[in-house]
Amino acid sequence: MERLPFIAGNWKMNKTVGEAVDLVRELKTALSGVEEVEVAVAPPYTALFAVYKELEGSPIRLAAQNLYWEEKGAFTGEISPIMLKEAGCHYVIIGHSERRQFFGETDETVNRRIQAALVHNLKVIFCIGETLKEREGGKTFPVIERQIGGGLKGLGDQEVRNTVIAYEPVWAIGTGKTATPEQAEEVHRFIRGKLEKLYSGAVSEGIRIQYGGSVTPENIKGLMKQPDIDGALVGGASLKAESFSKIVRYREM
Ligand code: PGA
Repeated sequence: MERLPFIAGNWKMNKTVGEAVDLVRELKTALSGVEEVEVAVAPPYTALFAVYKELEGSPIRLAAQNLYWEEKGAFTGEISPIMLKEAGCHYVIIGHSERRQFFGETDETVNRRIQAALVHNLKVIFCIGETLKEREGGKTFPVIERQIGGGLKGLGDQEVRNTVIAYEPVWAIGTGKTATPEQAEEVHRFIRGKLEKLYSGAVSEGIRIQYGGSVTPENIKGLMKQPDIDGALVGGASLKAESFSKIVRYREM
């Protein structure tokens, strides 16, 4: 089955409103004419609506970096799926390793967020990945298995079809140490096999699995050649139009 490649930029806690609008303006030009690749950007909450306005009429999709599972109420500092929808979001990133590491995210809270996103018609970019210690301890596959089982708990076929999985080995994020295409492919294949067991061959063949962790214009092509790597979740290199557009245009390199 043909899966549409999907490249998303995770801006993390970078860009003021003005800087974010400038960057998407540049991106619209740098990415004009690009076909057969889906593209999304995930600015911080404060810039979402302004970026949405700037993106009107463009195929670039808007993503948020997190959400809270309640619709509204006394949850100081949190943002609900309804708010994200109204601000123009199409996707939401859930379970990023920085959330797991620094903000107490667990498989259970990841699952609650994913369910809430899907109920409100937000598509999910669900992040998983092992730490260096886990990899060196030979625990990569059990960790991935646990994260998938926990994160997708209770979701049916149709819901999982609205989910993209981002495999991001924690040791490769922001470190300049990318997984080799073979190392990444091995885990991507494992993830797809797991999805087949949990759902079906048809479901697992349709789900896109992105790789994330120090993706650059230099290494994207080799990663995208792998049969189970369907795109990338890009951090550092998504903060400049030049490097991000080169990644999106990987076929032309
Ligand atoms: P990086 O971040 O590309 O800067 O390694 C990727 C991510 O955290 O999504």
